Parts: sequence; structure tokens; C-alpha cells
Amino acid sequence: MKNLDEHTITQAVLTRNASANDSRLREIMTSLVQHLHAFARETRLTEEEWEKGIEFLTAVGQICTPTRQEFILLSDTLGLSTLVTAQNHKKPEGCTEATVFGPFHVQGAPRFDLGADISDGLPGVPWFVRGQVRDINGNPVPHAVLEVWQADDGGFYDVQKSELEAGEYQGRAVIQADSKGYYHFRTIVPECYPIPHDGPVGKMLEALTRHPWRPAHLHFMILSDDHERLVTHVFREHGEYLESDAVFGVRSSLIADWVEHKPGIDPYGQPIDQPYYTLDFDFVLNPRVR
Ligand code: BEZ
Ligand code: FE
Repeated sequence: MKNLDEHTITQAVLTRNASANDSRLREIMTSLVQHLHAFARETRLTEEEWEKGIEFLTAVGQICTPTRQEFILLSDTLGLSTLVTAQNHKKPEGCTEATVFGPFHVQGAPRFDLGADISDGLPGVPWFVRGQVRDINGNPVPHAVLEVWQADDGGFYDVQKSELEAGEYQGRAVIQADSKGYYHFRTIVPECYPIPHDGPVGKMLEALTRHPWRPAHLHFMILSDDHERLVTHVFREHGEYLESDAVFGVRSSLIADWVEHKPGIDPYGQPIDQPYYTLDFDFVLNPRVR
């Protein structure tokens, strides 16, 4: 193929890719090339703009490390993560909705017993979180595994803190619900936080006059052999940024009352000399498709 021009280049690439053995790869690459070329045509992309785009993607790649996932941030801030989550988790009415995974989950979080303080020494306002994991028929999901992760009261995740050694965790846990699906633990109230914005994605948001903030939330990933994995958050009712989450992750059904209490006796019957919060939140899992 020679002498390709703006009218013939797209078909030439599609033809070249057409012999790929993997039919799904072929389908995805065909669509990607068609949309990329359509984008360049529609915007009449200049060479300078193309170069800027390449520089941007290079910078996104260069800042990535195992704990700095700039490509996930890019996907999140462009709404791609929410789109992919939404189209892959259409569930029957009544199931807990999924939302974005985000870049701060880590494998190998410490296991805690029910009732433990998972903040592991973080300063902050005490928070007692409890609920039940059920199936779509209202039956308990016994021994469901809940992975929980959260920011601290300054809006930072443990993996963002240079003073912690690799593998030292705060504000994340793996917890197993009891035989009736009940779970409960203690932690601290997490605050709103800006997504990491000192890199290329932050520059992109600034250029678009967008803020980088997320509303306060607690992450959950819930696993059970017979159910679809649920990755979700619970957001704070009346909190800031619920209408303008930088990563488009808020769903009304995931907003809950984080109830403030005066000092006195905590939910475990222990005296507590400072105000504290409670959250009651039940999860409903979708059966796994076999
Ligand atoms: C998070 O909630 O941890 C998160 C999600 C998307 C981008 C950055 C952070
Ligand atoms: Fe988060």
C-alpha cells in the first residue's frame, strides 16, 4: 500500500490488522483505529497538537509506579472508568451499585478480626462502621470477605505517605463477615481529598479549569464465591463535592448518613470521651453468572 492519503489511510490500517487471529482483539483495534482517525479528522488535528498529545501520554507513562497509577487517573477523570463500570455491572433492582475502583487498592492488606480498629493508629475522629451482606433474596451471605480502604483525616491514603515502609498499612483491611453476613469495625472518619494532581493529569484538569477533589468516602470490595465481586464506595451525605466528584463516581444509592454522636458509650459498650460517628450500611450482592 503506497500513496496513502487522508481518505485512504483508515482502510489501509484496518486491512493490515484484519489478519489478527484473536477476533476480539481485531474488533477492538478496528473500532479504536476508526474512532482515533475520526477524532483527528473531526478536530482537524494539527501536528503541534498531535505532538502535545504524545508528550502528554509520555508524561503519564513516565510518572507511573506501582503506587502512582496515572493512567487510571486519566481514565477516571475522562469518565472512562465510570462508563466501563456502568456497562459491565447492570444489576437487578435492589443490588448495591458498583463504582470506580480507583488507584489506591493494594493486594495483601492486613486481615483484621470483626470489631478491630483498622485505622491502625491513624489520628482522627472515631468511626464505627457496621452492616450486613445479603443476597438479592434478602438472605445473609455468610462469611463474605470485605476489603476496605480509606483516606485519613488529611485526605491521604497510606500508599501516598513516604514515611511508611512498603507493606506498612493504615486504613485498609480484609475482614470476614460472620455466619449471618454481619460485619463491623472501627476506624476514623475519612475526609474529602484531591486526587493526585501534581502530574500530567493534574495539569490537564487545570487547563480545563476543573478541580481535583473527591467527596469523602469509604471503599469496599466484597467477595463471595457465589456472587459477583462488588467494588464500591459509601459516600458521606451532605458532604462537599458530591455533585462534582473529579472522577464521576457518585451514585445516590451509595450516599449514607454518617451519624455524629456525643461522647459517652461507643457501640461496643466502651466509654468514649470524644464525639464519634457511626455508619450503618448493608450490601446486596448480585448472584454470579455461571
Ligand atoms: C479513590 O477513590 O481512591 C480514587 C478514585 C479515582 C481516582 C483517584 C482516587
Ligand atoms: Fe478513595
